[in-house]
Amino acid sequence: MIDIHLHILPGVDDGPASLSDALVLARSLVQEGVQMAVATPHYNDEYPQRPAREIFERVQDLQRELDRCAIPLRLLAGHEALIQPGLAEDISSGRLATLNGSRYLLFELWNSSWLPETEQVIFQLRALGVVPVLAHPERYHVIQQDSNRLKALLEQGVLAQLTAGSLVGMQGNTVRKCAETLLKRGLIHCIASDAHGPGRRPPAITQGMQVAERILGRLQAAHMIEMHPAAIVQNQELSVFTTTTPHR
Ligand SMILES: [Fe+2]
Repeated sequence: MIDIHLHILPGVDDGPASLSDALVLARSLVQEGVQMAVATPHYNDEYPQRPAREIFERVQDLQRELDRCAIPLRLLAGHEALIQPGLAEDISSGRLATLNGSRYLLFELWNSSWLPETEQVIFQLRALGVVPVLAHPERYHVIQQDSNRLKALLEQGVLAQLTAGSLVGMQGNTVRKCAETLLKRGLIHCIASDAHGPGRRPPAITQGMQVAERILGRLQAAHMIEMHPAAIVQNQELSVFTTTTPHR
């Protein structure tokens, strides 16, 4: 399994505060079957915006600790960018990290409102050859009220990443219901942990995948956490049209 959305770098955002907590989180990911993961610290105004180069160095530092502790987890570098004007420029200048340096950028929306520039920013990213991957669409109020809002983004060339814990109610019932609806409608391409630590927001991959398998079947569910993330971190083409056929 490859986890493309994870907060594991100690002391950079609302992920683990210490190295020891980061190591506990890494061990729990390995226990859940994850072999490779992209560290995707927040890129927004709430935390210091650490440039891609610094994320890469911090990933290397943590990788050394993982190796030293014989924790078999391979870490890659990325960001989770909050949607805002200028993201395309930030990628061009090398400040903003795509997922393992690929064409794929993990991004998030505002939780309760829709930034008016959303579609324009996505258009600019697509024009640059970037494929935006929307983090946890099931958590946004606008999409909870109308899943066609996500469908419209997919038509712009966006991919969608569901969070495993959402499928088991870790973010409440409204999020859980929306997560199931999006999976059933064929609007999801990847499942990731978005884990922040071993206690608060743990990975929940095993439990989440059980629900996904019930909805999608075993093979389709495996695509979401194995094949599609593998294509993303290897910068391979991932056709948005192969996975958006409604399942039921
Ligand atoms: Fe996140």
